[in-house]
Amino acid sequence: MRLSDNERRDAIKYIQEGKPLPDKYRFLLFDDDREVELMWNGKTQEVCNLVLPFQTIEHIDEPRTERIKQGKDQGTFDFYDPSGRQIKGWTNKLIWGDNKLILSSLKNGPMRREIEKQGSLKLIYIDPPFDVGADFSMNVEIGDESFTKKPSVIEEVAYRDTWGKGADSFVAMIYERLKLMHGLLADDGSIYVHCDWRLNSHVRIVLDEIFGTSCYRNEISWKRSTPRGARAISNQLAKVCDSIIFYSKGDTYIFNKLYKEYDQDYVDSKFNQVDKNGRRYRIDNIGMYSEKSIKEFRKEGKIYDYPSGKLGLIRYLDEQKGEVISDIWADINELNSMAVERVDYPTQKPEKLIERIILTSTNEGDLVADFFCGSGTTLAVAEKLGRKWIGSDLGRFAIHTSRKRLIRVQREMKKEGKSFRAFEILNLGKYEREQYINVDVDFREQGKQQILENKERQFIELILSAYNAQAVDSYNSFIGKKRDRLVAVGPVNTPVSSTFVDEAIKEAQEKGITKFDVLGFDYEMGIDFAELSRQGVDVQFKVIPREVFDRRAVEKGYVKFYDVAYIEVKPIIKGRGNNKTIAVELYDFSVFYNQDSVEETEGSLKEGSSKIVIENGQAIKVSKEKKTAVVTKEVLTKKWTDWVDYWSVDFNMESKKEIVRSVDSKTGEEKEEWTGGYIFENEWQSFRTKKDRKLELVSAEKEVFKGRRKIAVKVVDIFGNDTTRVIEVNIP
Ligand SMILES: C[S@@+](CC[C@H](N)C(=O)[O-])C[C@H]1O[C@@H](n2cnc3c(N)ncnc32)[C@H](O)[C@@H]1O
Repeated sequence: MRLSDNERRDAIKYIQEGKPLPDKYRFLLFDDDREVELMWNGKTQEVCNLVLPFQTIEHIDEPRTERIKQGKDQGTFDFYDPSGRQIKGWTNKLIWGDNKLILSSLKNGPMRREIEKQGSLKLIYIDPPFDVGADFSMNVEIGDESFTKKPSVIEEVAYRDTWGKGADSFVAMIYERLKLMHGLLADDGSIYVHCDWRLNSHVRIVLDEIFGTSCYRNEISWKRSTPRGARAISNQLAKVCDSIIFYSKGDTYIFNKLYKEYDQDYVDSKFNQVDKNGRRYRIDNIGMYSEKSIKEFRKEGKIYDYPSGKLGLIRYLDEQKGEVISDIWADINELNSMAVERVDYPTQKPEKLIERIILTSTNEGDLVADFFCGSGTTLAVAEKLGRKWIGSDLGRFAIHTSRKRLIRVQREMKKEGKSFRAFEILNLGKYEREQYINVDVDFREQGKQQILENKERQFIELILSAYNAQAVDSYNSFIGKKRDRLVAVGPVNTPVSSTFVDEAIKEAQEKGITKFDVLGFDYEMGIDFAELSRQGVDVQFKVIPREVFDRRAVEKGYVKFYDVAYIEVKPIIKGRGNNKTIAVELYDFSVFYNQDSVEETEGSLKEGSSKIVIENGQAIKVSKEKKTAVVTKEVLTKKWTDWVDYWSVDFNMESKKEIVRSVDSKTGEEKEEWTGGYIFENEWQSFRTKKDRKLELVSAEKEVFKGRRKIAVKVVDIFGNDTTRVIEVNIP
């Protein structure tokens, strides 16, 4: 240590008096040779290393051929099932949740091996949100009107209170995630971080620290648009560029040089000669070519003889590759309101931009990831370019938007006869919740039991307080009471089952209880809510939102419990003998949402304006007339179909078991376990897009054999919430 005796005494005195040490000791006390480093309050080297198993909630694959006959083509049969759905090989992954947990589970868990089998992760592109306030409010279409969906609490509170306060909290958030990404990236992989003038300096220094200054490759300036509006008139140079900062993980990395067409000015000034065939050319210095090469050039008519006797080399414009792509990208415009690829996600980036990045830093078949994927631009481009992909996002709406976009890509590629991959939607769902009541394995058994009980109690208290209910303890099934209704709370780590509800109904009937609510994170797929409510007791089923784990959200009273949506479907069986088909008709769907109230809006609305309010599952347009201030109300949701954004069918619910892989914490061995659930195989779907608002209400027909089968129907409403209904059908 480089401390003098005086400094040593001095430092001890400060510590004994509990005072902070003066700044100079930072450089005297610590063994660290970093010369330049970004510091922020709370900086720590600790990185999340939690491993949670991924839960597959949906498997999506456009059948390649409507009916590939079994055994006809062995090669195809290997990878695809008889209807042409992929059953082997890598499936792309769209993961819903906080990317910190996702990254640490990918990096440290069993999925890592799967990624390595694919040659490891070659490219990460991320576009993390800084000014997130704007990110989470979405325009949602209801009929012909557009309505602004407010951010969900988890999106808003998580952002505003953890890293929405300013640059330091953003940097803390991104630092840990970039460290995890660095660990996950292939040795010859690269990362591109998209940001703008507000954070490019911070991000660059953080990347220097994590990747090393020698791995800095470029800071790309992407010119988004021509200066206009406020930018053009401000009292400084117009800010029209974003920064995309590019680092490689090591010294050797994939890099494909790309070219673009020369600018016309360049062509006009440099290729200013035209030969007798009309080909444009320029005369270059002959340079260091050998006699032999010069002879060859002469044969090809590419040598120019100057009167002085000097030689020049003729370069034809049509033989040039074009201008090599540099770190200034001014030839890709931001999306305009009419762009075909636009999916109406506020921060959507142009596909051309991502295409350039993917082509530069990967080859066909490589694995690409975007952990802040938003509307799924990176994933869509990766698929189109024959790359494999992983994407993640915290927002429900982002996942839903990406799902629709990627299905469209599959459909397009199928139409063009190109090959594409199946993708899965995953989350950490119940494991993330389990984590909340999990007890550290290091505690002794007895203490563990005690802690577990305490945690469970706290968990129940939290849910009741978020629901504004009081605890009661004289029942088996009911643990709370809200006004005149009792409350039953489902388990944290398994879906509410019909047995759970049956027991509650039985107790209610025995004790003369007429009304109660069931709160559950998830509901078993087969539950028939209508049937259960018909047993003489008024039962309401509500979904506990994820934000219940955010204490601040609970304290602020932000947590909303939505009623389980209600789906009615009808099977349509056709044909005879062994040639039967089945189709499904979506028959009814209802939701019970609220956002703002008509009464409050009436008071606060400015004259001459209007606002859309959602009250008890109805979208109502409240308008206030100019001058007269007369308020009118118009119900916009005229038909139940207005609520449906997307629906899909799994014609054989129990055909794909849900297997989770985990690593045994004691033996370190990997194990596979069936969760008891099934994966929803999306075999057919219909959805609305920005341009095509039509929705089909009867599915395609599917060939089926005799016997009983379960059919699952998933409906995603215009807010991105999904509900599944399972029906049992007997094919005679
Ligand atoms: C700027 S947008 C990305 C837009 C995207 N590049 C596109 O083209 O659509 C940032 C995204 O990061 C997501 N996000 C924010 N925090 C996150 C977190 N902790 N984990 C995962 N996603 C997160 C937001 O939901 C948002 O969709």
